[in-house]
Order: sequence, then structure tokens, then C-alpha cells
Amino acid sequence: MVKVRFVTDKGEKVEAEGEVGISLLEVAQAAGMPLEGTCEGQMACSTCHVILDRDWFRKLPEASEEEEDMLDLAAGVQPTSRLSCQIDLTDALEGLEVHIPPESRDMQGV
Ligand code: FES
Repeated sequence: MVKVRFVTDKGEKVEAEGEVGISLLEVAQAAGMPLEGTCEGQMACSTCHVILDRDWFRKLPEASEEEEDMLDLAAGVQPTSRLSCQIDLTDALEGLEVHIPPESRDMQGV
């Protein structure tokens, strides 16, 4: 199991863990984080947007072009934003800290 920590938009820290190979989105949802993940990892919604610490961001494999395009549509995007459905847990992510953005609503319905 890989341990990760979520930090909500209110600064609340939530410890969670998940098996190697599942997506960060699944771990977040299991931990009760308000990420909709409407498209279930198809990179078509951006409701799984999370913000990573800079050090962690650098350690992750780079986002694909599709992911970057989708992130452009997400609310409150930061330089260290990622789509959590595109991040699979590995042992190297033990201790990862993930910030949940304040606006994690689906922007497509607007
Ligand atoms: Fe839709 Fe990640 S779940 S882009």
C-alpha cells in the first residue's frame, strides 16, 4: 500500500492509502475527497484536478498533451496542477501530498 495525504481547501489533512497501480483519483474518492472524476479517467472532464507540492510535481512523469489541454479548462489551475486520474500509484509516491483545489466543480455544464 502507498500512503498519500490530501489537504482540503480548508487546510484539513486527510491520510489515505491505496494499492500500487490504482489512480490517485480512486484513492481520493475512497478518502471522501470531493473530486467528481466525471469521465472516469478519459481526460474529458478535468473534475479530477488536484494541485501537487512542487517537489512531488517534479518527480512525476510529465503530463501528456491531452492532459495539459484538459488542465487548461480546469478552475484554479496552478503550475503544479495535474489530473489525478492520470497519476497511478507507485512505491515512489509514498508520502505524496495532494491539495484539493477550492473549485472542483465540473465546468462543462456552465
Ligand atoms: Fe475526467 Fe480525470 S476523471 S479528466
